Amino acid sequence: MDREADIIASEHEVYQPSPDVIRDALIQDYDQIMARALEDPEAFWAERAQALDWFQPWEKVLDDSNPPFYKWFVGGKTNIVHNALDRHAKTWRRNKLALIWEGEPGDTRTFSYYRLWQEVCKFANVLRSMGVKKGERVTIYMGRVPELPIAMLACAKVGAVHSVVYGGFSEQALADRIEDAQSRVLVTSDGAWLRGKVVNLKSMADEAIHRSPVVEHVIVVKRTGQEVYMEPGRDYWYHDLMSLPIASNTCQTEVMDAEDPLFILYTSGTTGKPKGLVHTHGGYQVFTSTTLQWVFDVKEEDRYWCAADPGWITGHSYIVYAPLILGATSFMYEGAPAHPYPNRWWKMIENYNITVLYTSPTALRGLMRFGDAWPRRHDLSSLRLLGSVGEPINPEAWRWYYNIIGQGRCPIMDTWWQTETGGFMITPVPSVPLKPGSATRAFAGIDVDVVNEDGEPVAANEDGYLVIKRPWPGMARTIYGDPDRFVQQYWSRFATHGFYLTGDSARKDDDGYFWIIGRIDDVIKVSGYRLGTAEVESALVSHPAVAEAAVIGMPDEVRGNVIWAYCILRTGYEATEKLNDELKEHVRHETGPIAVPSRIEFVDSLPKTRSGKIMRRVLKAHALGKDVGDISTLEA
Ligand code: WTA
Repeated sequence: MDREADIIASEHEVYQPSPDVIRDALIQDYDQIMARALEDPEAFWAERAQALDWFQPWEKVLDDSNPPFYKWFVGGKTNIVHNALDRHAKTWRRNKLALIWEGEPGDTRTFSYYRLWQEVCKFANVLRSMGVKKGERVTIYMGRVPELPIAMLACAKVGAVHSVVYGGFSEQALADRIEDAQSRVLVTSDGAWLRGKVVNLKSMADEAIHRSPVVEHVIVVKRTGQEVYMEPGRDYWYHDLMSLPIASNTCQTEVMDAEDPLFILYTSGTTGKPKGLVHTHGGYQVFTSTTLQWVFDVKEEDRYWCAADPGWITGHSYIVYAPLILGATSFMYEGAPAHPYPNRWWKMIENYNITVLYTSPTALRGLMRFGDAWPRRHDLSSLRLLGSVGEPINPEAWRWYYNIIGQGRCPIMDTWWQTETGGFMITPVPSVPLKPGSATRAFAGIDVDVVNEDGEPVAANEDGYLVIKRPWPGMARTIYGDPDRFVQQYWSRFATHGFYLTGDSARKDDDGYFWIIGRIDDVIKVSGYRLGTAEVESALVSHPAVAEAAVIGMPDEVRGNVIWAYCILRTGYEATEKLNDELKEHVRHETGPIAVPSRIEFVDSLPKTRSGKIMRRVLKAHALGKDVGDISTLEA
């Protein structure tokens, strides 16, 4: 995939919203709202915050006295679960469906707001009975089942900080995250269904605890039913605990400060050590609910499906918290998109009357491969809005999504954002004219730009660093336990300007539309999942045969990028096909299937700077058959 060629090809291909879409949109006069919001972002966000309940109002909207440690809604008392569940359980909404769930084998479950609220109360009581306290970190490691959001919400209700580890990660990745968060309690499941097979989450959790023995209690949800090891005194079945008298239907919601942490979410950066971004109750609830409501135009009667995994930020913000705050009905599906047949998704859209679908370019490209006949067999007329996230969408996939899935009727919201931003930053709303492959403009109240090395804005159609110029309520507050790294990573590159560095490069076209080019740091987006080169490299060198390793991201038609690895072997090991397979298996086991290199090459040396830093850029240029360019500057 060639992003440059794609941008040039579709820069002038404009899709105007239909008069129906404009008429029915929740947000009218968006351009005026944007202009006002940019003039006075604090007033704008304060107004948005007023749409939610607060136990006690804030005294100051933004405290910017100690940048980059910004504080929002200072002095405000709240709890996101109050807004997401408690308040709905007291109104007519208690009978509305909050969640419709379908398992991969075809089983279904539904939760009204009342039922979900009760389950959360019960599990919150279980957590309290285990001594879980405000501020304590609880790790959650599960497949896509309703107990995952229930566990997250229960943590938040009692003021604990959840750290969800994506179920596609394996032992070492989980162990590192448990260790960093110092979690005493782990919530997991016996297994997860994926492509008709069982992923043995419990045995991976056991191995992770063996490596990070801080865990004292393990709560295990029974999902797949296979035999699992249960350690006496440490492991408990979820359903046993939930049937104890202690798991009563009512539970007091902890009063939280607006700036109290809600969750830690680990993401990949430039070093191997996981980076736990911290999000808080107050600003995050305002930011995620506003962005979801405006961008996906969420209305009472919608059936909204965000097909991401709750284990990533997209799931945290736009499966769990924002839809519940808005009182929406969400759909959630457990398994693989094309299981057992490539029409699985389209069939579910028809069966459940889905009106809004939010997914990733990788998923779309994967489904597009099977041909148009699969979606055409289904009635997709319930859909009215589509969304994309995670990586740049190539215009070909965009057009397929627009014409075949949306049948030319549904605007596509291409939302650019990050784990760090908490919610959408660059995105259209339904009334904005679209260009395939552009995330269009910054959201109301968000100040984004493309700048050069010196922090000066670049001219139209020139590439530069994508930066955010002003704080916003959904921003991550710090890296858990490592505030210096937070400053270093995001705020030091343009320290004099006070800009937040996104790590992406981008350009703006003549109409001011943003085109994201891609990551310019050591992060690789594989199938939209975020991985650090260092994570994969450390998995490789943890194998006894590997002395040194370097990995790069290479463009791929379906997955966006795939990983190529270069390894120097220790003496005594031979570069064989068998070892190659063994190393891939090793990475799968240590980090997870998404981290497995699609290609491993054994080499005698790696290109390095004089100070010993591996020049991945050189490896990549070489792999792409491109001129390596001037490497003298890198030698310094
Ligand atoms: C990329 C995912 C182009 C980008 C929500 C960003 C995108 C990284 C888009 C963050 C998009 C996300 N167009 N690129 N619409 N959305 N990205 O933290 O490189 O998993 O920096 O958050 O994904 O990945 P993360």
